[in-house]
Amino acid sequence: MKRLKILQAGLGGFGKSWVKIIGESGEWELAGIADVNRENLDGAAKEYGIPAEKCFTSFDEAVKKTEPSALLNVTPPEFHKGLSIRAFKAGLDVLVEKPLSDNMKDAEEMVASAEKTGRKFMVSQNYRYRSRPRTLKKLLDEEIAGKISYVKVDFQKMAAFSGFRAEMDYPLLIDMAIHHFDLMRYITGKNPVRIYTDSWNPSWSRAKGDAAFNIMIEFAGNIHLSYSGSWVSAGKETSWDGTWEIYGEKGTLSLQDGTIFFITEKGMKKISALKLEREDRYMALYEFYSSIKENREPETSGRDNLNSLSMVFNALKSAKSGQAVAFCK
Ligand SMILES: NC(=O)c1ccc[n+]([C@@H]2O[C@H](COP(=O)([O-])OP(=O)(O)OC[C@H]3O[C@@H](n4cnc5c(N)ncnc54)[C@H](O)[C@@H]3O)[C@@H](O)[C@H]2O)c1
Repeated sequence: MKRLKILQAGLGGFGKSWVKIIGESGEWELAGIADVNRENLDGAAKEYGIPAEKCFTSFDEAVKKTEPSALLNVTPPEFHKGLSIRAFKAGLDVLVEKPLSDNMKDAEEMVASAEKTGRKFMVSQNYRYRSRPRTLKKLLDEEIAGKISYVKVDFQKMAAFSGFRAEMDYPLLIDMAIHHFDLMRYITGKNPVRIYTDSWNPSWSRAKGDAAFNIMIEFAGNIHLSYSGSWVSAGKETSWDGTWEIYGEKGTLSLQDGTIFFITEKGMKKISALKLEREDRYMALYEFYSSIKENREPETSGRDNLNSLSMVFNALKSAKSGQAVAFCK
């Protein structure tokens, strides 16, 4: 099979780990790497043995010299638009890290540019490509719990803050919650109708901005969800997927510390998670490849992701105003 050539921009804390995934993917060949920070660029080159002729501090030069067919954009959110639009115009398909952008306007402009240039545009919402969320989704589609009415999601971690997150006003809401918002839409199969956020920074937090929240969301189909989260949980921590309880007319589906249970009046049954051929970012990268080969929209396309991203910014609007915010129809 002929591999497709991908250029990676951004070799920081998370970016570096993508190089290994590309190398192991089977479908992609690393055309080159680009980073404006020489130290990060050289660090990645040394770690993975990438030759100097494939390493660039200029993105445009990298595109010109390596002739990739796609870009993997792992720069911080405020730089996603600039590089992605330049890539579309150069004829590249783009896989961008979450969150799609740090504002809705830029996100919409990227989606419009992808459509105008006819390029594939996908967001790596990697949590969606994990076995437990996919198992919950399958079970709900099979109506194991019947009609669902309310959901509880809890995310608790003690994060070591550094880099751009330490300076953000709402690090949990802007940088992390997008994973869970996207999972909520995916698992329930519904879009949000209304959102209310109570956001604060616990007294012991090392973050500058709010590191904790309680959020109430109403989804289409009269599904009501409560979501609590903290980046500074000093005791109990949850998995990265979070703890989920989904209440339906026939029983409750629960995801707790990586294990799925179905609970009814008769008792509690453990359910094995699906065995996926590829997980997480490996599956995201494969979905990006498949969408190109099959000439179809990727599952977590930029266009679809606007719905998940709007949850971030409407939650933020609510946190700032103290009012519930309705989603545009
Ligand atoms: N999916 C996940 O679970 C997950 C986890 C961590 C980070 N991320 C996302 O990955 C992205 C990067 O995060 P990070 O933690 O690696 O950030 P980081 O700050 O550690 O690294 C970003 C890198 O991008 C480089 N960069 C900035 N502007 C550039 C430009 N114009 N051209 C080329 N390089 C440029 C910086 O020099 C830096 O090396 C963010 O969108 C973040 O939210 C996702």
